[in-house]
Amino acid sequence: MGDLDLELQSDRGVFGSKGIDAGTLILLKEAPPPPADGDILDLGAGYGPIAIALARWAPKAHVWAVDVNERAVELAQANAATAGATNVTAGSPETVPQDLRFDAIYSNPPVRVGKAPLHRLLDEWLPRLKPDAAAYLVVQRNLGSDSLAAWLRERGYRVTRLKSKKGYRVLEVRPRT
Ligand SMILES: C[S@@+](CC[C@H](N)C(=O)[O-])C[C@H]1O[C@@H](n2cnc3c(N)ncnc32)[C@H](O)[C@@H]1O
Repeated sequence: MGDLDLELQSDRGVFGSKGIDAGTLILLKEAPPPPADGDILDLGAGYGPIAIALARWAPKAHVWAVDVNERAVELAQANAATAGATNVTAGSPETVPQDLRFDAIYSNPPVRVGKAPLHRLLDEWLPRLKPDAAAYLVVQRNLGSDSLAAWLRERGYRVTRLKSKKGYRVLEVRPRT
């Protein structure tokens, strides 16, 4: 995706508090650009670096930045406001309307929560992709990107490894056919 200069605040106790995560940067550089409009999900948005970049690249789209960490949500809201990204809604997962379907999902997912909770999380959100849409996930190889890809394939998703860089994989995940 294109170049963008953003000044974002983070805080202790929030992922990425010591600077933008290497995986996040790789996702933003290597994943395809967001659709020009429609609804886009940043799953596990933290202080908002992915959501806000997507929102700036696709000003006509609406970006849902969801996180369970309340401080992260506050930061994502404040950072979106500072960046002039008025097309971002940051909130807890419950704030996203249940019937909403996504034109794309981008995520640096919370792999450290453990395999079972991560699988439950993906099982909850990936079925909400529209039929022609895709999710882009960045996961460290050391933290199980290949076994995650295998699990997703077993679940019937179509998974492509788009990029392997600096120990990270960018996976494209398309809905079951
Ligand atoms: C690897 S961090 C990525 C944060 C941010 N997107 C970034 O790139 O810096 C994963 C995030 O997922 C959040 N998270 C953990 N469990 C979650 C859940 N069940 N639903 C939504 N977000 C969750 C964490 O609070 C954390 O902020």
